[in-house]
Amino acid sequence: MPLVPMRILLDHAAENNYGLAAFNVNNMEQIQAIMAAAEKTESPVIVQASRGAREYTNDAYLRHLMLAAAELYPQIPIAMHQDHGNSPETCLSAIKQNFTSVMMDGSLLEDGKTPAPYKHNVRVTKKVVKAAHAKGVTVEGELGTLGGIEDGHGAGLSAEEARKHLTDPAQAEQFVADTGVDALAVAIGTSHGAYKFTHRPTGDVLVMTVIEEIHRRLPNTHLVMHGSSSVPQELLEIIRQYGGQMKETYGVPVEEIQRGIQHGVRKINVDTDNRLAMTGAVRKVFFESPGEFDPRKWLGPSRSAMQKVCEERMIAFGQAGNAGKITPITCRQMRVFYKK
Ligand code: G3H
Ligand code: 13P
Ligand code: ZN
Repeated sequence: MPLVPMRILLDHAAENNYGLAAFNVNNMEQIQAIMAAAEKTESPVIVQASRGAREYTNDAYLRHLMLAAAELYPQIPIAMHQDHGNSPETCLSAIKQNFTSVMMDGSLLEDGKTPAPYKHNVRVTKKVVKAAHAKGVTVEGELGTLGGIEDGHGAGLSAEEARKHLTDPAQAEQFVADTGVDALAVAIGTSHGAYKFTHRPTGDVLVMTVIEEIHRRLPNTHLVMHGSSSVPQELLEIIRQYGGQMKETYGVPVEEIQRGIQHGVRKINVDTDNRLAMTGAVRKVFFESPGEFDPRKWLGPSRSAMQKVCEERMIAFGQAGNAGKITPITCRQMRVFYKK
């Protein structure tokens, strides 16, 4: 089955009240891990690549790896998404490379760091919506600013500053009307990377009520949670056990994500949990077998560790069991939908 527009996966998830994990990829093993998890749990799939991932892999490798996934798993609908496009040019180049969905993150300026004025956000997002919808490609926008700095995408805000940049529900309503995005990423106090919260988060730092209010105002817009790794304590422990250094930290509890899914969240971005799982598995092999030098002996276990995380999220978010229930269509067919 050819790659499908992300919109059809989000629509199916909304109609059936579940969420879809969007996993970041940078290499073959990560794509294999996601697809193996999807096959086992019969889940539709969203694979996403950041700008950094596209640079690291080279678009041609990535494009062919995704074609291989589609060829090997014809029963699974797969959407390929540009994560945090920083400009219309980035999004348009992704579409040229077979991506079926793009995020125009106009909440930040093109440097990916500086919070952008609302007007800038609307201008660049609208431009991408026009070009992408003409090709049947899905668009995710973002309003509000995430707090992380360590991955280069966040605005570098302190927790207190980040609270001032949460999505304003009234402005969200305006933004969707102004731009016509298919999905909206909202800022509710999460950040990218492993160091999100210093304690298990409570409602004052992980502000789920913002999602509830936005969903009340925009019941037909698919909401997206970024920075939504759960940072499981057991994965941190494995890394520490085998010589790694991870400070005390807490992520977004799966139950809070499930609460979000009850209020319009359809896409949940998860990268860090897979990074932690892979790193722990590799450390374990090197610690236990210091003489090992066959990459398959450490890449294989890291792939299995990521597969386990993907399966757990697919089940917890409710996408498991839905792969065969979605009628696949191509981006070309999807163009008609946007002409209406
Ligand atoms: O947006 C954040 C993702 O975790 C991707 O991170 O830019 O290091 O690939 P990256
Ligand atoms: P995590 O760092 O919490 O996995 O978030 C990933 C993300 O939001 C990618 O866009
Ligand atoms: Zn993100």
